[in-house]
Amino acid sequence: MAIFQGLCFVLVLASLCLCTHGYTLTYKTELLGHKVMQLGIDDPWKEASSIKKDVQIFVSDGKKKPYSFINDDGVLVGFDVDLVKEVCLIVDMECHTILAPFTDCVFTDRNLDYAGSGLMSGWYAGCPGYEITMDRMNEFDFTLPYLTTSDSFTVAPGNPKEFDPDADDYSQFTLLHLTGAPSNAQCLTRLGKKFGNIILAQNLPEAKEALLNGTADVLFSPRNRIYGLEVLPQRVQCSEAGAGIMLKKGSDVAKWWNPGFKAFYASGNYNKLCQEAGLKYGSAPRCLDPPELASPELLSLLMKETKTETVEKEHLWKFVVSGRVAPYSFLNEKGVLTGFTKAMLDNVCSRAGKKCTLILAEVDECTVRKGELLFPGRGLMSGWFDACTGYFNTPDRSNSWDFTSPYLVSFGTFKVAPGNPTGFDPASYDFSEYTIVYAETAITNDHCLHRLHKKVGKMMIVTGPEEAQEAVLNGTASAWFTKELNIKTLETLPGEFHCENVGTSIMAKKGSQLPGWWNPAFAEFYDSGDYNRFCEEQSKMYGGKFTFPCLPKPEEKNRQTQF
Ligand SMILES: *[C@@H]1O[C@H](CO)[C@@H](O)[C@H](O)[C@H]1NC(C)=O
Ligand SMILES: *[C@@H]1O[C@H](CO)[C@@H](O)[C@H](O)[C@H]1NC(C)=O
Repeated sequence: MAIFQGLCFVLVLASLCLCTHGYTLTYKTELLGHKVMQLGIDDPWKEASSIKKDVQIFVSDGKKKPYSFINDDGVLVGFDVDLVKEVCLIVDMECHTILAPFTDCVFTDRNLDYAGSGLMSGWYAGCPGYEITMDRMNEFDFTLPYLTTSDSFTVAPGNPKEFDPDADDYSQFTLLHLTGAPSNAQCLTRLGKKFGNIILAQNLPEAKEALLNGTADVLFSPRNRIYGLEVLPQRVQCSEAGAGIMLKKGSDVAKWWNPGFKAFYASGNYNKLCQEAGLKYGSAPRCLDPPELASPELLSLLMKETKTETVEKEHLWKFVVSGRVAPYSFLNEKGVLTGFTKAMLDNVCSRAGKKCTLILAEVDECTVRKGELLFPGRGLMSGWFDACTGYFNTPDRSNSWDFTSPYLVSFGTFKVAPGNPTGFDPASYDFSEYTIVYAETAITNDHCLHRLHKKVGKMMIVTGPEEAQEAVLNGTASAWFTKELNIKTLETLPGEFHCENVGTSIMAKKGSQLPGWWNPAFAEFYDSGDYNRFCEEQSKMYGGKFTFPCLPKPEEKNRQTQF
């Protein structure tokens, strides 16, 4: 029996070797050489052994030669596919690479990149071959890089518009961006380029057509060769450190992949695999230099994460924002997600001793409106994240979500044209002589005025703040009822009116444990007076031009008559 098992074991090993396309990898620690020790890895097996051995699915769109593509026989092959196999073999993980649209990994909407549903839902462990950029780090984790990268500009043959990548100002050109590509608006900003119009292409054929028919002038992309178009010779860097496997935020994959990859790299077999790939797949992958030629920067990068991270069982609390609400949450000039909400989360989470992260998600992953009713979104219900920041706790939302205590007040005010030409008085009970304007999605609406026992006359409903301001300025409406605070064109009349019970809170899935730890930590933040000091500092950070609607100071709380 023992002999039989031993024999099977040998056969399994032998067949693995046969499967690894014709050359022998040296997996044994003693054969990995002194470079392993230099990189500080003693035993990749040991580090990986604490990880649960689920099957790991990696994803390819099948169109990236020589990294992962469908060969003439219809088989998915390429350097990325081989690398996944080899590293998984080293750490004894069962891994597969399957086909899926790349938008399952990342996609772009109005110049912001969001993590795709496949990665967020846990269908895939990771997406190999993605550039590690500042803005992607907002919402993804990455393994160590295993490829070098560069980004380039592509034009129609002959460069008819005479686009010059070295110029500082691209605003005369219509740029084209491939959905989810690292070569995006944030990268152009980091490169110090001025730019105007950027249009989005869903795929390469669409981008090609737009360049050829003149809809766009320049494609900014990570590609170095595009058949039928001219890739200009200049190269820029959108990535911080090359390309690695892109992971869901908080993923465990890097914890087993990195030790395995380091061992593979240090053994020299990584570079053998690169050379082989060049021969097998027709063009050479853009590999890292071999250990003996590696720059000190590369070696230190590979060293950086060598400290053994024990797999933490502690939950990573994920909060989301849309990333479009400056100065609450927005991508700064480097592409890093920043703002009031991020700073407040960091503060409260550290008081509570919780691990937290703020990532991006589209609004409808939090809440979906169907006619009159609000429903919870897919992302929140599927556990892509724990909570959505910046939501009012209203009675209709309490049906389907839980909320933390509020961290900002929200109240409506009436805004009028300078000088209040129609003599509108918010304190009066009868508004029937006046036209009042409000934005269609605002909670400062006719229902709110009814609850405030106001007699209303004509109500004008507009799509947003710009139109509302215009209506007041051109005299169509006497006053705009709104909770916007930072409107400089209009005069804000005294009087604060509350349309909901409390204020702006964090909205979590029904039954979530988040309010249970958040509320005490926030109460401590507030009661100590630190919250109000924080609020003042935040307002100063934005040049004093922006007022955050902070909660009243603890000592002033009881004086508030209208709460
Ligand atoms: C040019 O190509 C783009 C991308 O396919 C398409 O959306 C656009 O309608 C085309 N424009 C013209 C003028 O043909
Ligand atoms: C005033 O502005 C509103 C909102 O944009 C618009 O609907 C209306 O037609 C304008 N009226 C006049 C007289 O310009």
